[in-house]
Amino acid sequence: MCGIFGYIGKLDADSFLIEGLKNLEYRGYDSAGVAIVDNGKINVVKRAGKVSELKSELLKNKLAGTLGIAHTRWATHGLPTELNAHPHTDIDKKVTLVHNGIIENYLELKKEYNLKVISEADTEVIAALLAKINGKDNLEKLKKTCELLKGSYALAVIFSNEPNIIYLAKKESPLMVGESQDKILISSDANAFRKYCKNFYILKNNEFAKISDKKIEFFNKNKKINKQTNKFLNTFNFQNKNKYLMQDEILQTPDAIRETAQFFENFKDIKNYFKNIDKIYLVACGTAYHSCLFGKKYLDFLNVPIFAEIASEFKYSKPLITKNTLCIFVSQSGETADTISCVKKCKCKTLAITNVPNSSITFACKKTILMKAGWERAVASTKAYSCQLLIFYLLKCLLKEEKPKTKTLVSDAKKYLKTLNIKALALKALSYEKIMFIGRQGDYITAKESALKLKEISYINCIACPSGELKHGTLALVDEKTLVILISTQKSLKVKNDLTKKEIEARGGTCLIASPEEGADIKFPSLSRDLMPIISILPFQALACEVSILKGYNPDKPRNLSKSVTVE
Ligand code: F6R
Repeated sequence: MCGIFGYIGKLDADSFLIEGLKNLEYRGYDSAGVAIVDNGKINVVKRAGKVSELKSELLKNKLAGTLGIAHTRWATHGLPTELNAHPHTDIDKKVTLVHNGIIENYLELKKEYNLKVISEADTEVIAALLAKINGKDNLEKLKKTCELLKGSYALAVIFSNEPNIIYLAKKESPLMVGESQDKILISSDANAFRKYCKNFYILKNNEFAKISDKKIEFFNKNKKINKQTNKFLNTFNFQNKNKYLMQDEILQTPDAIRETAQFFENFKDIKNYFKNIDKIYLVACGTAYHSCLFGKKYLDFLNVPIFAEIASEFKYSKPLITKNTLCIFVSQSGETADTISCVKKCKCKTLAITNVPNSSITFACKKTILMKAGWERAVASTKAYSCQLLIFYLLKCLLKEEKPKTKTLVSDAKKYLKTLNIKALALKALSYEKIMFIGRQGDYITAKESALKLKEISYINCIACPSGELKHGTLALVDEKTLVILISTQKSLKVKNDLTKKEIEARGGTCLIASPEEGADIKFPSLSRDLMPIISILPFQALACEVSILKGYNPDKPRNLSKSVTVE
């Protein structure tokens, strides 16, 4: 949610900043802005709308200067207007800054310090406070201001009396600094500058940086500190071929599966961490929560109680945690605030499953298993979901001391995706008012994930229901305007599922069967029960994407959602 980018170098900053913002657009895209320093003068340009709006403006009216900060916003406080967009300045333009995160006490601060602001954004209060606070130098002012802030922040700040320096501050919101021979880049996601830098620094909570074109200095609250650089992990070169990232990311699933399975070899020691556990909590949000529901099924042979919990609910519950409890947190981005906030309440064994090395969740948890799904930028999670299920399956095999039966999984997935043609189904889906996904057992979880995908990017009213539960109420919704997709991957449940189909058709609804059986309306490949869910989601991810495109939407950037939800 919201992206920060910064550049100090020898060339004009504008094109680097726009490129950085484009890479970060998955974190928010309702408004964007830059501040670029030209001969000591800080020029700010902001636009409501996507980064492309800002880019057009900068092409028309170029901003010169080799130092700049930039931001792509996802509105939390105030509408997505130009006024509320970042960078924000104080009324006297002494301070210009961009901010990710939320300041919970901004209204109190505004009142207490009698701050003059013109926008609705919490961020403007930080700029106003920073301009007002006393200190021997700008670093001290920044430290003093941060002490007054409640909430989360990653800040990049330029002071008008020191326009050749970018100051940084960080608490609970990611911020990294990348370094190459002739430039320094700042970002809330290191992937955004990966192309230019081999090494990068990660700011920890309550750390600060002072960056000029000559040096990078780091500080904690009390003193200057030395920090180690981090190297990017080698990643497979995932290809982008289609118009939309989501189309590419679905097609990248087989490669993501292969990379993740190979990389899992590095995490085999995790077996010891499962010794003597008394119960497991699996905690996550959205799609990652659905993978936890499968995680519970994969791990149920352990014969300890296992609970799959939605993070934003778990936070307010009273889990029965002992020192032998294992809490597993699943997060593609590793930055989801709801999930990370739960780690803090788990004083027990904690394990992160994430796609992003050095993400906040990896620092919060005692152990980590990394997936290697590659950078996932479309808002709707796809290939990462299949990899999360794969990790749970590989964990099962590891703990049971069984050899994973994944030999042909990658080629099966590739073959399946090549033959998958979802267009006719997408066109059919468009002619219905309501869509339901139903299934039993694991298929019900796939139904839940399919319904989430379809509603989030095509805005169709769509629900999931366990097949057997339909007759206990939800069947009332079924009429001739309803399309029901019944997911049926287990032979033993076929008879029951056929009855459900009849119930639906008797109410005028259309029921399509998705199964590995010949003649199925949506055909899956034949796979074992453990591997099926990793693949059976693919047609429904593709369906959601196709319906979204047919409706004229951009599936990568759905309304009201952003990837990496860094606010609770
Ligand atoms: C849905 C989707 C979201 C995320 C959720 C958690 O397609 O992407 O539901 O799964 O916001 O995100 P992570 O996995 O990054 O914690």
